[in-house]
Amino acid sequence: MESDDYERCYALWLATKGIGLTDDDTRERVEVYLRFNARLSFVALHGDDIVGTILCGHDGRRGMIRHLAVRDDFRGRGIAKKLVELSVSELRADGILKCNVCVEDSNAAGLAFWQKLGAKLLHYDWRTLQFHTNNEPLA
Ligand SMILES: CC(C)(COP(=O)(O)OP(=O)(O)OC[C@H]1O[C@@H](n2cnc3c(N)ncnc32)[C@H](O)[C@@H]1OP(=O)(O)O)[C@@H](O)C(=O)NCCC(=O)NCCS
Repeated sequence: MESDDYERCYALWLATKGIGLTDDDTRERVEVYLRFNARLSFVALHGDDIVGTILCGHDGRRGMIRHLAVRDDFRGRGIAKKLVELSVSELRADGILKCNVCVEDSNAAGLAFWQKLGAKLLHYDWRTLQFHTNNEPLA
């Protein structure tokens, strides 16, 4: 995935149920993400159309996958599995052995997909908290 892909990726994310979008998904933020995580994110192309995406990064310790999306009419052809293989292979090349995935709680199909690929649902006894680095209150 490159920064020129942004508009087509965003259109796919908007059209895909199960992909939650936030202010982290502006062109500027996605470009920064891609720069910090070069090589790790991919698109699936059909001609000039982007029919699949995966956003992947790591912090030197843990991988993180977001926005795995395949256009409705291209599902069931192994595209998501291939996108995951490509990102995971790059994580491994960077020495990253564990990867987390963000899936909305209500996205049963997304959870089932990842479990089919061997991901384990973790039941943490801790919660994730978040704050703004500029002290603005979170919405
Ligand atoms: C989930 C999603 C990415 C799967 O894409 P896809 O290209 O159809 O998946 P693939 O064809 O690569 O499937 C790979 C394997 O997972 C299985 N699979 C696919 N969708 C599944 C589902 N909803 N439940 C269980 N298994 C599923 C396939 O049968 C296949 O198994 P196989 O290797 O034994 O044949 C796609 O349905 C999608 O974009 N969903 C909406 C967004 C989303 O929920 N993303 C995941 C959370 S970020």
